[in-house]
Amino acid sequence: MSLIEMHNIRKDYHLGETVVHALRGIDLEIDKGEFVAIWGPSGSGKTTLLNLIGAIDEPTEGDVTMAGRNIRSLSDNQKSELRNERIGFIFQSFNLVPVLSAVENVMLPIQIKGVSYSEAKLKALGRLKEVGISELAHHRPFKMSGGQQQRVAIARALVNGPSLVIADEPTANLDSETAQIIISIMRDMNENDKITFIFSTHDQRLLNQVKRMVRMEDGRIVNGDARR
Ligand SMILES: Nc1ncnc2c1ncn2[C@@H]1O[C@H](COP(=O)(O)OP(=O)(O)O)[C@@H](O)[C@H]1O
Ligand SMILES: [Mg+2]
Repeated sequence: MSLIEMHNIRKDYHLGETVVHALRGIDLEIDKGEFVAIWGPSGSGKTTLLNLIGAIDEPTEGDVTMAGRNIRSLSDNQKSELRNERIGFIFQSFNLVPVLSAVENVMLPIQIKGVSYSEAKLKALGRLKEVGISELAHHRPFKMSGGQQQRVAIARALVNGPSLVIADEPTANLDSETAQIIISIMRDMNENDKITFIFSTHDQRLLNQVKRMVRMEDGRIVNGDARR
């Protein structure tokens, strides 16, 4: 059984009278432990696809299963739990809480579960160390570079020990050298901890560290099995 299975997935957005066919029949299977890039031009459907995989949105047609469970069959509570416990999210704009320090940002997903402050802090500090920015633990995001903020976001995505991390254009706001570093941090975690990573990008230069490339154009996968 694959970790993610999607068969003939369609997603339409309705904008008044017009319908946008964002996904036009997607078949995709992703196994546990894969490191996959979804790459394609802006508007090709990458974010829409990732939102379906992350149980943030539902398809218009077709079913998405995660570890054999149909996401459509889950209650809202079960979906929230899935997103908080099993999946880590990383975003293009980092999405850190500006009034909180780095370590407090990383603690958030653990505190939601009712874990004590001191235990959450210990775990969060451990994750910040893994991404190489322990010394910035008590800084607020606005004092950090984009690359440092994205490391905090990676630490936050990993703090609950997810089996899957979804990253939507995690390097789009970074210079290319920093982008390479961010991808290699993700790659190391994939290798060492066997966490499945799915990330989107429109930057072909980032694909050299990727095991599998899924190419999207106009709501379709045009090459889903390119591997190295
Ligand atoms: N919430 C939305 N409402 C209407 N149209 C949308 C919405 N989100 C995305 N789209 C449209 O769906 C298509 C795919 O968008 P998206 O998944 O964001 O692509 P990408 O992430 O590859 O840039 C685009 O034509 C986009 O304009
Ligand atoms: Mg997008």
